[in-house]
Amino acid sequence: MTAIGKPLDRVDGLLKVTGQARYAGEFPEQGLLYGSVVSSTVAKGRVTRIDAAKALALPGVVMVLDHLNRPKLASYDDAFADADAADGSAFRPLYNDRVLYSGQPLALVIADNLELARHAGSLVEIEYATEPFETDLLALQEQAHPSPQTPPAPRGNFQAEWSTAAVHLDLHYSTPIEHHNPMEPHASTVLYQPDGTLHIHDKTQGPQNCQAYVQKVFGLDNTQVRVFAAFVGGAFGSGLRPQYQLPLAVMAALALKRSVRVTLTRQQMFTFGYRPRTLQRLQMGAAANGRLMALGHTAIGQTSRFEDFSEHVVEWSGMLYHCDNVQLTYKLVPLDVYTPLDMRAPGAALGVIGLECAMDELACALGIDPVQLRLINYAERNQNEDKPWSSKALRECYREGAERFGWSQRNPEPRSMRDGRQLIGWGMAGGVWEAMQMKASAKARLDANGKLTVSSATTDIGTGTYTVMTQIAAQTSGVAMGDISFLLGDSSLPTAPLQGGSFTVSSVGTAVQQACEALNVKLLEIARQTYPVFKEAETVRFEGGQLHTRDVSVSLAQLVKDGGKGALEVQVDSEPDKKREGYSTATHSAVFVEVRVDEDLGTLKVSRVVSAIAAGRVVNPKMARSQILGGVVWGIGMALHEETQIDHQLGRYMNHSLAEYHIPVNADIGDIDVVFVEEHDEIVNALGSKGVGEIGIVGVAAAVANAVYHATGKRVRDFPITLDKVL
Ligand code: MOS
Repeated sequence: MTAIGKPLDRVDGLLKVTGQARYAGEFPEQGLLYGSVVSSTVAKGRVTRIDAAKALALPGVVMVLDHLNRPKLASYDDAFADADAADGSAFRPLYNDRVLYSGQPLALVIADNLELARHAGSLVEIEYATEPFETDLLALQEQAHPSPQTPPAPRGNFQAEWSTAAVHLDLHYSTPIEHHNPMEPHASTVLYQPDGTLHIHDKTQGPQNCQAYVQKVFGLDNTQVRVFAAFVGGAFGSGLRPQYQLPLAVMAALALKRSVRVTLTRQQMFTFGYRPRTLQRLQMGAAANGRLMALGHTAIGQTSRFEDFSEHVVEWSGMLYHCDNVQLTYKLVPLDVYTPLDMRAPGAALGVIGLECAMDELACALGIDPVQLRLINYAERNQNEDKPWSSKALRECYREGAERFGWSQRNPEPRSMRDGRQLIGWGMAGGVWEAMQMKASAKARLDANGKLTVSSATTDIGTGTYTVMTQIAAQTSGVAMGDISFLLGDSSLPTAPLQGGSFTVSSVGTAVQQACEALNVKLLEIARQTYPVFKEAETVRFEGGQLHTRDVSVSLAQLVKDGGKGALEVQVDSEPDKKREGYSTATHSAVFVEVRVDEDLGTLKVSRVVSAIAAGRVVNPKMARSQILGGVVWGIGMALHEETQIDHQLGRYMNHSLAEYHIPVNADIGDIDVVFVEEHDEIVNALGSKGVGEIGIVGVAAAVANAVYHATGKRVRDFPITLDKVL
């Protein structure tokens, strides 16, 4: 039985394509009430009057909740934090009369149907006493304060080495606000049970995080709240923290003792976390032979007034290349906006833009090929942690990626390659992401029919978790894929971390593997007690739903029966292996991009991408490839399309819809070739798997920018690279 490594289809695919997979806002219920959120139209101030009389006068409108009439909540007055909270005090919807940002939820209308609730919401009258506000990071950068999470301490003597280096560069880059925009908007369906307990279907990356949050905020005990998230239509980080529709829906359900659903509109998807705008400064000094002598990376990110959101923006510059004189700085500017939130490869997707564009500029300044420059400065250790890598096949990524792309045919001269009126540019960049592992638990239960059920309270946000966990269970238990059910998305299942950080396979996968191994131990014990041939057997094999030794086999179902109980069940709590402690663990990538730029019009298309990935063992190449494809598409979007624009006069987003917030569509995407290079890693975890959820996006935007420079001779350092900047 070799389930691991096969490009199997999704085990949940049929449910999804036939519409049987239900998402948070789709669970039907007799007498369900619908909530619609009324949002602030000003960026800062106080609500002086809120009048819902006209809304309440409509037949079918049941209630309008606001800060004045909301129920008293157990922990609204204390600081409370969720599992992915930032430093500070989390946002509390309907807490008081203060308006902290434009789009803030100020009231919840509950009605018999959604259309009525939305219409009634438009009739709620709100008056404000407005106050001056600031939403422009650029204008306030001088007020930046150090992030509470500090980057690694400086090493060597950056300033001296930088100023005396043969070549030295001082470069500024900027990246805009971006919003997650998963296909499925955030929604919570709170099913009020006859006994007063709550069953909640929520759009989340962590049902246990939401369970704990609701329990704490509403002062309930843990048997009173159960959170489900069987299917999630994309999240990308937006579901790491409980979003405000959840407490609002619960507030209404508890107040009315009824089932309530609150779904956010697409525009309201722009009223909570996002990828923060950053300003970056890259200072690089190199010897004439290409050796990096000094590297300084300063990033300023925006945050809210109530929380300091920090991510790893500059760390990567201290680890991707060997450099003995490094200075990393990370600062935040609080603005009158909502707190940013992790978004696919949080921090890395931003910081690696600065780093990898600057490396390209350095390659040009030195007259050294960009791949060669990276090889000259290859990091054999992670100097941030002063540890060796558990594995690192980045050299192979450069080599295999360059070969697949045809990099050796590149003329390094900008504007030297063309196809008719189109300038052709070839650019590349490297990428890096952490290979983390968290504690996780899993349960395995084998019944007397040989059916195996494995469970853990993780989610599948479209990544393929159902499938991959089933493969790991099949490989370990010897039970056929078709006889295995993997259960997730239920807070009552064994503890799992948030699905995020690319650590689900390494964390939950390890727990699944260990649970199945523990099951095997029990089965073997039964076999030894029951069958003489197994008593002495030294080598046994679990395969095809049977236990084998030499030429004798017994079915696992029979062993369960022999055990005398209806089923065998084991639960394990897995932890990161101690072996990891002496090492740095990371995934790496090399991305090669071809752009075609119309010389007259400045229109730009990414025609080809080769993404070579080193991520340890790939459990399912089909699903892993899809993760990388999604990351590459998003990277192209970061380079060319995505930007949430604020009108700083109003402190309000201008393009908060999918019509005006541009993301790549099929017609924008050319050929994407994904290569997984071989990487054996016995330290990272027993599966040897590092995770592929985020590495695919890292470096892509820089590679596109570098290709644009190669095509046109123009450096655009202010992202996204729109045609007005290229012309
Ligand atoms: Mo990911 S940004 O860790 O959901």
